[in-house]
Amino acid sequence: MAEKNIPTHVSIIMDGNGRWAKLHGKERIYGHYEGTESVRACCEYAVERGIKYLSLFAFSTENWSRPDAEVSGLMDLMLRSLIDEFDTFQRNHIRLRVIGDKSGLSAKLIHCINDVESKTASNDQMTLIIMLNYSGKWDIVQAAQHYAADLKEGLTDISLDFNRFDGYLSTTGIPDPDLLIRTSGEQRISNYMLWQCAYTEFYFTDVLWPDFRKEQFAKALEAYACRDRRYGNVK
Ligand code: IPE
Ligand code: IPE
Ligand code: MG
Repeated sequence: MAEKNIPTHVSIIMDGNGRWAKLHGKERIYGHYEGTESVRACCEYAVERGIKYLSLFAFSTENWSRPDAEVSGLMDLMLRSLIDEFDTFQRNHIRLRVIGDKSGLSAKLIHCINDVESKTASNDQMTLIIMLNYSGKWDIVQAAQHYAADLKEGLTDISLDFNRFDGYLSTTGIPDPDLLIRTSGEQRISNYMLWQCAYTEFYFTDVLWPDFRKEQFAKALEAYACRDRRYGNVK
């Protein structure tokens, strides 16, 4: 039986890898390596709790401004994780989707993403969404561009409402996040799902992402279960 007050879609801004590494006297990249252990733990726990969509902010449009070595380290890690975690996806019946501006990614990474996406397409326990080279403003602008192109081609008309605009976003078909978790003590949205988080519940924790595992995830879900969502209405 489905658990009560379990969010359908949980999203996480996975932050604090660099600070975790520094605390442990290591290079920043080790924080990112350790962070992949948290990704696996959280995926498995999300499946266990019956969450249907888990989206993870892995790399923002703005993260390209980091030192070249860190950016290439993160891209290599992404590629390796997709290959290494394939068995985890299959074992847990997880469907993988990658959302973001793929035009900025290497051909090798795009090939691997397409491969894992197609091989896991029929898995129906949970959809794991990796937000890669993503930003909320990018998403809104690309939606507006696609709408304008359709309008020009005569494929749509001038009447545009929230639902129809939603259909142009990169996340179309995925319910808006019910719960957004951000680790590492920062309390900002950092150009994440600006449109989609209109009525999302936020949960901030000081725990750094590499230390965010099952117990911390459980605490966030416990906090969510006590929230009163009113959507502008009265209760
Ligand atoms: C999050 O950790 C990972 C990415 C943004 C890719 P950070 O790398 O931002 O870690 P801090 O915030 O510097 O500690
Ligand atoms: C947000 O974290 C992006 C990801 C987690 C991928 P950042 O570390 O890049 O955000 P800021 O710079 O602290 O706002
Ligand atoms: Mg950060």
